[in-house]
Amino acid sequence: MEEIKVFCPATIANVSCGFDVLGLALDSVGDEMVVRKIPEKEIRITKIIGQDLPLETGKNVSGVAGLALLEKSDYDGGFEIEIDKRIKPGSGIGSSAASSAGAVWAMNELLGKPFSKLELVQFAMEGEKLASDVAHADNVAPAIYGGFTLVRSYAPLDIVPIPTPDELFATVIHPQIEIKTSDSRKILKTTISLEKGIKQWGNLGGLVAGLFQSDYDLIGRSLEDHIVEPIRSILIPAFDDIKTNAMDAGALGCGISGSGPSIFALSKGENNAQNVAKSMEETYKTIGVPFDIHISKVNIHGVKKLG
Ligand code: HSE
Repeated sequence: MEEIKVFCPATIANVSCGFDVLGLALDSVGDEMVVRKIPEKEIRITKIIGQDLPLETGKNVSGVAGLALLEKSDYDGGFEIEIDKRIKPGSGIGSSAASSAGAVWAMNELLGKPFSKLELVQFAMEGEKLASDVAHADNVAPAIYGGFTLVRSYAPLDIVPIPTPDELFATVIHPQIEIKTSDSRKILKTTISLEKGIKQWGNLGGLVAGLFQSDYDLIGRSLEDHIVEPIRSILIPAFDDIKTNAMDAGALGCGISGSGPSIFALSKGENNAQNVAKSMEETYKTIGVPFDIHISKVNIHGVKKLG
């Protein structure tokens, strides 16, 4: 195979209680990317449509992630990349992760899969480092593995795939402002109280157990964030109203998607997810905030080949 076209899913990182460690992949929104082999040992980004992003390899997350893979590969050629960028940068649904993960996943396919998923996550994390100054894995891991993933440890990197209950749907609303992950990390405190820690790891354990047991009530009870949401939510228009109305409309839980400004809710069943979407839409329409909205099943496959 000389060329491959792939779908690179958007992702929701943190999922309320799992800052930097938990994430899930979406089905209905993502980028498309074409990657092809070239004889020269280099990465070339030849085309980006949809967004204004740098073509220069060292300044583009897919270029940097690809270089990390190439460095560890005995392949003596390189790759050319074309990106159809449908996820807006700074939206909070893993725009940079989709490009980084899509690029290295596609390259691995073209080389006959010499690298494991864990290694691909490590390469893709280089892209995240370029985008946000921190090599966090909670977007690239679900993009590559699919479903929900837990980063149990960063050193050494240990990714745990978590099963997805069949009826789980996500609603994501994106108020049309851009928040850079690097900026929204700077406002966070670097220490937390033991009291908050206890609440947070109780919820994280509860959420993981709820996902394993398809226990929707437990999932809902666990979707709480006592550490990051109270700080970051002030950057997001009408966050409290969106959340209150989404919960009234039947969401299991609602929180900030990644570093925001997108807000996500999880629901049991598509009908509930649609009712949640209506409530979110109405909230923003009432106060005149422009938005994009997506309803999606959890994508259990991650990056996938198209065509
Ligand atoms: N865990 C990261 C953060 C995700 O919240 O900063 C960014 O998408």
